[in-house]
Amino acid sequence: MPSTTTLVVTGASGKQGSALISSILSRPSTENQIHIRAIVRNSRNDRCKALLQKTRSSTNTSLTFFEADFSDRGSLEPIFKGASALYLNTSPTFKDAQEEVKHAKNILAAADASVTIQHIMYASVVAVDDPNIWSRLGGTAPWAPEDTGPDTSIPTPDYRPGSCYVCDPMDETCRLGLQGYFSAKYTIEPLVQEWGNASPSRSWAILRPSWFMSDFLGSEAEYHWPELSSQKTLKTARSPTDEMMLVAPSDIGLIASKIFLDAQPAQWNGQIINIGSQALTMDDIAAALGHNFRVEYIPRDEAVQEVKGGNMLREVQAWCIPRQACFDLTSLEEMFGVELMSFDKFVQQARD
Ligand SMILES: NC(=O)c1ccc[n+]([C@@H]2O[C@H](COP(=O)([O-])OP(=O)(O)OC[C@H]3O[C@@H](n4cnc5c(N)ncnc54)[C@H](OP(=O)(O)O)[C@@H]3O)[C@@H](O)[C@H]2O)c1
Repeated sequence: MPSTTTLVVTGASGKQGSALISSILSRPSTENQIHIRAIVRNSRNDRCKALLQKTRSSTNTSLTFFEADFSDRGSLEPIFKGASALYLNTSPTFKDAQEEVKHAKNILAAADASVTIQHIMYASVVAVDDPNIWSRLGGTAPWAPEDTGPDTSIPTPDYRPGSCYVCDPMDETCRLGLQGYFSAKYTIEPLVQEWGNASPSRSWAILRPSWFMSDFLGSEAEYHWPELSSQKTLKTARSPTDEMMLVAPSDIGLIASKIFLDAQPAQWNGQIINIGSQALTMDDIAAALGHNFRVEYIPRDEAVQEVKGGNMLREVQAWCIPRQACFDLTSLEEMFGVELMSFDKFVQQARD
């Protein structure tokens, strides 16, 4: 019998949300009906218009944009009524980690109030529960019942240049945003699990993507790598040997769409899926961007001073998750029957 799925997508005009919607809209037609309710603050921008253009060719799928704010639960509730599934994607503010948590709580409460939403997929971030991250970010994991200082059971990370983090973990003046960034997502994950575990008819899954390839192109690159467009330079506090695991947002959307529409909820209930496709050094990344791109490696002492002076970008630019940490590309590709995108191909496609 044909089925009907009504999926609420939060952050719908963003990279992940629009990738999920595009992936659903480009699926071959079946008898199954899919209704997408896309939540944004501003539905008049070009990204929303571009997605609406794609619905023209899709007969069994509808796309409707709704304007709401995660900080206003009342604006969310009417949109959730009668829906069956939710892609939960919030954004950090960096000023206040608790704000993202509040947003997620409002969204989960609206899903609860709908009664009909049974399936939630949460877009988190890779390695959010890796004790090494917390050790690097100051030594106290957020799950610690009280501040007992660094966890000595965790092997001391290597802080030579090349250790993917700028600051001395014991130096509180050299930490700006990453602790709050990871802590918000680390707090939201169990809220999603609790929501899903509250009833046997519910299910939850968590996607944990690595760095987005899109952060190296267009307006995202202007933010993350300010020297890239004017000087064709990736200026970074990372070392030449550090590798950074990357993923194309379109692969996140593809995998999310397959989970929502191809798998039975019982198949994905309780799954936490790390998504990354290629680990590259900064030199690899510059080479893929073009022969005239280069990398400038900032000496660690200088980077530490910049972070202490309030330059959070330097802190983020140095961040990387080792390839071995949590990725098994072969089984990811096999599990979803997909070929994940290389950075070369991503750059090529974006330029075409
Ligand atoms: N960039 C990376 O490398 C990376 C890697 C792993 C995980 N992540 C995580 O991915 C998430 C962001 O996803 P993304 O990059 O797909 O998003 P994005 O491109 O930054 O877009 C954000 C989306 O969220 C909407 N939005 C933001 N604040 C909102 C609010 N208060 N109320 C309602 N809608 C709101 C925006 O709508 P409007 O435009 O209408 O405001 C937009 O649709 C973040 O949590 C980030 O930590 C990023």
